[in-house]
Amino acid sequence: MAYWSWDSSYDIGIEDIDNQHKKIVQYINELHEAFISKDKNIVRNTLSDITDYIVSHFSFEEDLMREAEYPYFMHHKNIHETFISNVGKYKIAFNEGQDITGQLMAELQIWLTQHIMHDDKAYKECVQNLLKKKNKKTGLFEKFFKK
Ligand SMILES: [Fe+2]
Repeated sequence: MAYWSWDSSYDIGIEDIDNQHKKIVQYINELHEAFISKDKNIVRNTLSDITDYIVSHFSFEEDLMREAEYPYFMHHKNIHETFISNVGKYKIAFNEGQDITGQLMAELQIWLTQHIMHDDKAYKECVQNLLKKKNKKTGLFEKFFKK
């Protein structure tokens, strides 16, 4: 059974973001499998994949928040940065030979759940308005040029 299963209460209602969050949950499950395998190379690779994915997900969110002129953008970006630097500390500890995987998985799960449920849901409306405007523009564009 998976370490962590997606729950529909995590949905924020923006499809791309929800899919990326689901992918992160999937990565945490991969980290769990790597942890069980006790193979340090697999753990190292999974740690690096999960970090890369989270960094790109955060920058995707930040681009949308910036474009939507979300008033708490800087606050949210700071939370992302603190999170990435915490994960970085775990990676350093791992490279120094400490067995941090179990603790990291637990922290990732708690942190991400809280972040999605509170911080990400807080920008939802603002970003949804931006996406609606964008879709309208695309719709008009297509109508005009497809004649
Ligand atoms: Fe976020």
